[in-house]
Amino acid sequence: MSEFASSLEASPLSNVRFNYQPAMQSNGLQEIVQGLCQKHKQIHPKYFYDHLGSQLFERITETPEYYPTRTERRILLENAESIAKYCGEDCVVIEPGSGSSEKIRLLLETMRPKAYVPMDISAEFLHHAAIRLGQDFPWLHVSAVCADFASYEPAQRQLPSGKRVVFYPGSTLGNMSREAARGFLGKMAGWLDSEGGVLVGIDLHKSSATLNAAYNDAEGLTAQFNLNVLNHLNRIADANFEPEQFEHLAFYNESERRIEMHLVSRSDQIVRVGGHAIALSQGERIHTENSHKYTLSGFAELAEQAGLKTVRVWQDQDALFSLHYLERIQ
Ligand code: AVJ
Repeated sequence: MSEFASSLEASPLSNVRFNYQPAMQSNGLQEIVQGLCQKHKQIHPKYFYDHLGSQLFERITETPEYYPTRTERRILLENAESIAKYCGEDCVVIEPGSGSSEKIRLLLETMRPKAYVPMDISAEFLHHAAIRLGQDFPWLHVSAVCADFASYEPAQRQLPSGKRVVFYPGSTLGNMSREAARGFLGKMAGWLDSEGGVLVGIDLHKSSATLNAAYNDAEGLTAQFNLNVLNHLNRIADANFEPEQFEHLAFYNESERRIEMHLVSRSDQIVRVGGHAIALSQGERIHTENSHKYTLSGFAELAEQAGLKTVRVWQDQDALFSLHYLERIQ
């Protein structure tokens, strides 16, 4: 455990606890270089979220074109009573990749869970979010877990007892391939006992015009967000990308039912990344993100393949976004 992590174990609030599960040794640099050496070059979308990238994403969610965040918030607020009924009073809410823990706030007063388990890889972020939440909801037991949720296995002793509800909002699942999404749904199902549930936010398939606009906002924030990944790699992977030498490209791939984001090279160029020379020709693309969109039946089918049955779905009037309550198939 790092010195910082152990210093955080002491919580200033009696209703807030911290648990640290040391991250697996992962070689980020090797992963980055490998992605850029492939025939179809790629950068993992997790690298969008450095400090500036996280701020840019926040600003994207406020643009008129980017409908998912505000629509999901509205679904959560307008259906809080009904959602709470399915989750049940006194449940234990587990949120993988909880970040700022903003969305659970919309449910807490109505849902009155017995405990909230935010889980995030960023210790400092998690720490601040958990303490703010514990201050604002003094009746709530917050049991934060600093872990990479891809490798997390909730140990009985770390979690308060009670019916578990895994909360995974934001259509974050959409970043994964359908196969990986099925795998992660199965993993979340494995965290539940027989009576628990998964509450997951999923963006829906719709007209290409609406989708293309959402990822090509007029203010150019999505373009900045996409290009900023290069500045991030320059810092963490000893690279020398020149963002001006690339162009933002985002489009809805109808047959794959996903938004694809790419960075297109404006010239023939050679970029240094972690001691490797990467050659790009003019017009060549680096694939930076997929954001899969589902139909209600398509998502129910995927969940079923992961051992989860659809118990209830909430959506907005225009069927832009959806929230699913799933239970384990016994
Ligand atoms: C945070 C992954 C849900 O896919 O819509 C926003 C990220 N990318 N604009 C999404 C994103 C471009 C977002 N997710």
